[in-house]
Amino acid sequence: MRLPDLARLRPFDLANEAGYQQWRAIKLANQDTLAADRVVPVKDVARLDAREHAAILERCQKTNLAIYEVTGAGGTDKTAIRAFGRQFGLEHLDMNLRADEDSITSLQVVEASAGTQYIPYTNRPLNWHTDGYYNPLDKQVRGIIMHCVAASASGGDNLMLDPEIAYLLLRDEHPEYLAALMQPDAMTIPANIEAGVELRAAQSGPVFSVAPDSGALHMRYTARSRSIEWKKDRNTRMAAGFLLELLATDSIYRVRHRLRAGQGIICNNVLHKREAFDDDAAAGQKRLLYRARYHERIRGT
Ligand SMILES: [Fe+2]
Repeated sequence: MRLPDLARLRPFDLANEAGYQQWRAIKLANQDTLAADRVVPVKDVARLDAREHAAILERCQKTNLAIYEVTGAGGTDKTAIRAFGRQFGLEHLDMNLRADEDSITSLQVVEASAGTQYIPYTNRPLNWHTDGYYNPLDKQVRGIIMHCVAASASGGDNLMLDPEIAYLLLRDEHPEYLAALMQPDAMTIPANIEAGVELRAAQSGPVFSVAPDSGALHMRYTARSRSIEWKKDRNTRMAAGFLLELLATDSIYRVRHRLRAGQGIICNNVLHKREAFDDDAAAGQKRLLYRARYHERIRGT
């Protein structure tokens, strides 16, 4: 089915019911067409051929994410991952406190003695979130590549949900909750203070927002209950509870995938969580992911 023109339709405007219904019909019709062959084989991530590029782009247009698998001999170092992103208009990397110098982060278990208790660097489960929800609003993360260099010995599944689907399910049942989540002070992340030094100021913002130019939907979310302040009104509280329940419910829209070595995910910062995993250090099996976060969405989505 043809793709909706978000800039023209404006489906995420709560006052625009006709545009929303048109978009909704297309969105739902496009959901089940790709599930069977979700993983796209690519020979060389740094130089996709036209068919590989089109297959990844189509999945991102319909579901905001694609899973690929490198089948050829082309490299998958950070330079190759950078080149992969550029083919989809992903250029500007988000800087974070712990990224490597090139701003692509190597995610693997780091012993606590090395100075970090940050959950991404442990084997513990990571609850539902979108990346960079604590970033300033003009530095939001809109595109992500996660490339698996080495798989876990067991566990570590990623669960993912397209924010457009979360929006749709919410709007169908409780448009008033959606209005609450679009308030500019719906969700506040308190300042990050370590040893009396403020590393990051408090950051308020909406959960759902719409880019004025493209009409694209962006979601800023974490399911964590500590170090987060929801706006103290009834609908915001109810909406946060609804989202939690939605994410905990198995559905045809929720994608589950355990990355194998050579596989990766490219997405428009969809909702995701990671289950706990185990490395097998004795066998030299240690999960390693490269993660690149961008300020752009995937071009053409
Ligand atoms: Fe994440």
